[in-house]
Amino acid sequence: MFTRVARRAFTTTRVNPYKVTVLGAGGGIGQPLSLLLKLNHKVTDLRLYDLKGAPGVAADLSHIPTNSKVSGFAPDDNGLSQALSSTEVVLIPAGVPRKPGMTRDDLFSINASIVRDLATAAGEAAPNAKILVISNPVNSTVPIVAEALKKKGVYSPNRLFGVTTLDSIRASRFISEVHGTNPTQEHVNVVGGHSGITILPLISQTKYSTMDKATKDALIHRIQFGGDEVVKAKDGAGSATLSMAQAGATFANSVLSGLAGERDVVANSFVDSPLFKSEGIDFFASPITLGPEGVSKIHPIGEISSEEAELLAKAKETLKKNIEKGVQFINN
Ligand code: NAD
Ligand code: LMR
Repeated sequence: MFTRVARRAFTTTRVNPYKVTVLGAGGGIGQPLSLLLKLNHKVTDLRLYDLKGAPGVAADLSHIPTNSKVSGFAPDDNGLSQALSSTEVVLIPAGVPRKPGMTRDDLFSINASIVRDLATAAGEAAPNAKILVISNPVNSTVPIVAEALKKKGVYSPNRLFGVTTLDSIRASRFISEVHGTNPTQEHVNVVGGHSGITILPLISQTKYSTMDKATKDALIHRIQFGGDEVVKAKDGAGSATLSMAQAGATFANSVLSGLAGERDVVANSFVDSPLFKSEGIDFFASPITLGPEGVSKIHPIGEISSEEAELLAKAKETLKKNIEKGVQFINN
């Protein structure tokens, strides 16, 4: 028999009233991401901003009977600062996507200034917000956000995340295809960054560590270049949007769970990290624990094989250049 207090503890559903803002909400990622956030009961105030289309997306989503209010903002009438005002979580999928033949780094010339300006606005209107960067090239846009926030005097390493969840969900899916297993039961620790060879799936840490070399190499390559598969199939119409929306919503939910004080919320993300700082690499993707302040713990990458050590060395060379490029964009 439960006491009255115990029974209440079992029946009460705690609703956490979180304000979440999507910058670039009218785009290919922004729209389905906003839909998934509208379905998340941790979100009670969803603000959508884009250069075009956000009020329409907000009106559409506002008819869904979940507990959040949805508002759309346009650039006129101070829309950006209204969308950001005292918000707790900001997701940034604003910017241009790749076309076939382009690398993510080719997007730098357009997306760097978009991300800088949005980060600066976030630093002014929501200095304590957790910022989740989706816009590519993530290896450079995350350092850009860090430097923009430093210029505003509001940078905290705990509050900035490069969203690399798409690499994790691809790894689960692709490894399950190789082994004929249930992808929801597969987990691969994907570390490094978010482009080509900087994406490092640690297959040696899975139960498939002894798979034959050719199959393993093909799997690693597919995880590293999964984005290209979608870019090629979309044939000029952009890159991954729906799987990215799912990935972004999953990671945002982890951040919100951490804010809500849930325990042992662990996800991989590209963050300001001590792991390889001594080698001049200030940002690195690895498992992190999320808590009320954002990043509460950065976990080491764990034991790796000698082949993975070689891949890591190559990943670090590229990462270092990508990160420096972002930092220099703001400081020069
Ligand atoms: P998209 O062109 O469909 O949408 C981008 C949206 O950003 C557009 O609606 C555009 O109006 C808006 N936008 C542009 N400048 C803006 C600004 N200054 N303020 C507000 N909104 C602005 O592109 P998409 O397919 O949604 O991709 C967006 C970005 O996400 C790209 O850079 C892409 O490479 C990246 N991406 C990252 C990942 C990842 O894993 N991190 C995965 C897929 C795509
Ligand atoms: C992805 O991994 O799908 C994204 O980074 C988009 C891209 O350009 O491939």
